[in-house]
Amino acid sequence: MANVSGSGRDGFGSRFGVIAAIAGSAVGLGNIWRFPYVAGENGGGAFLLLYVGCVLAIGIPVMMSELIIGRRAQSYAFGSFKKLAPGKPWTIIGALGIVSAFVILAFYSTVAGWTLEYIVQSLTGAFHGKTSAEFKTTFEGFISGSWWPLIWQMVFMFLTAIIVYMGVQKGIEKWSKILMPMLLVLIIVLAVRSLTLPGGMEGLKFFIYPDFSKITWDVVLKAMGQAAFSLSIGMGALITYGSYIPKNNKLSSTAFQITIADTGMAILAGLIVFPAIFSYHINPTEGPGLAFIVFPTIFSQMPGGDIFAVFFFFLLAIASLTSTISVLEVVVAFASEELKITRKKATIIGSLAITFVGVFCTLSFGVMSDVKIFGKTIFDLFDYSSANILLPLGALLIVLFTGWFLGKKNVRDELSNGSLLKVRLFGAFLFIVRFIAPVVIVFVFLKSLGIINF
Ligand code: TRP
Repeated sequence: MANVSGSGRDGFGSRFGVIAAIAGSAVGLGNIWRFPYVAGENGGGAFLLLYVGCVLAIGIPVMMSELIIGRRAQSYAFGSFKKLAPGKPWTIIGALGIVSAFVILAFYSTVAGWTLEYIVQSLTGAFHGKTSAEFKTTFEGFISGSWWPLIWQMVFMFLTAIIVYMGVQKGIEKWSKILMPMLLVLIIVLAVRSLTLPGGMEGLKFFIYPDFSKITWDVVLKAMGQAAFSLSIGMGALITYGSYIPKNNKLSSTAFQITIADTGMAILAGLIVFPAIFSYHINPTEGPGLAFIVFPTIFSQMPGGDIFAVFFFFLLAIASLTSTISVLEVVVAFASEELKITRKKATIIGSLAITFVGVFCTLSFGVMSDVKIFGKTIFDLFDYSSANILLPLGALLIVLFTGWFLGKKNVRDELSNGSLLKVRLFGAFLFIVRFIAPVVIVFVFLKSLGIINF
């Protein structure tokens, strides 16, 4: 496919390719594994409401900002700030992004490894006729082991590294285009199945009916963190992807479409998980294991469940892969373009370093489960701090940069593709990135930390 960005850099080939690749980054374990477990722990319907609020108030403006920055600068995260703000400290956003990428990939690869184990289990018919209690026991037995969880994590990191090494178009675009729509279809089928289970309506009520008494500032922070995590924002991954987007692509529509796709996937996952939880008497506050108990239970009780299980875990692993490549890409782009090492070396060193850190996340369910930092296991600490601290912080700096530093003219120019398109609601967009999004993020931070009180 021809280079379309016109700058001699690798780029996305088509409009659908743009959407598919960015949606591939956004849709992943965040939607299907993390969203249901965090929503279950934080009040169901009340959490859903806050989550959607954060997607609108913070998610869309930050996503647009990242795409604007990346396409303007024609560079990856760190390099973009160096180009657009030479000699200024904004490169800290790029540096923060590298840290976030490490932290996220370390624990994400643990869970992605679990999906590989579950492909094998479903292929060997291990899901037959078990109850949810038995699935819980099997799951806990598996994750507390020292060998297989580590082996799968390493296999997954290896797959990620191979695809990143193959490059932008051939790797990312080809996979996302075919398999993401298949996942969507499967998820819809499962949602219908789950909603029609006996007792399913009660789960639906838990998921969509907001119980306002459950809302605390801590819950708001977690909703904000989940929104950022799920949309892949706050780390500069979408700055890198923005730089691959053709100059004639309408960034605002792209951001809207991806946000709808990603949020839709999370809500569909909720529509599968919560009815099933209530029907099969699983605890909504089960934690990170939730999806790995609920989904197998659904399959074990479903006609053709074995086949659905294989497809589901396979597509979930692929969805995770299209997400992890966008995270590793942040590290590799930095290392190869900034430290001037070859892309091959950058990929090998980067993925080995991340896998090394990731081992501790995986073992924190087993031999290292007693190691606690701030009262959390290593896995929990990485999971919590990346979504709830690092990404919102990155998001805050990104909107401040776009709103106050990049310059109205540059922002308008990117949104209008050099005055070719009419930009509607430009004033509103500027107001949101300058005031609304930063104030909301800072306020939620300070409130949930208990720093301000009324
Ligand atoms: N959004 C992905 C998911 O939901 C995870 C992810 C990929 C991500 N790239 C990211 C999160 C960049 C934050 C930043 O599974």
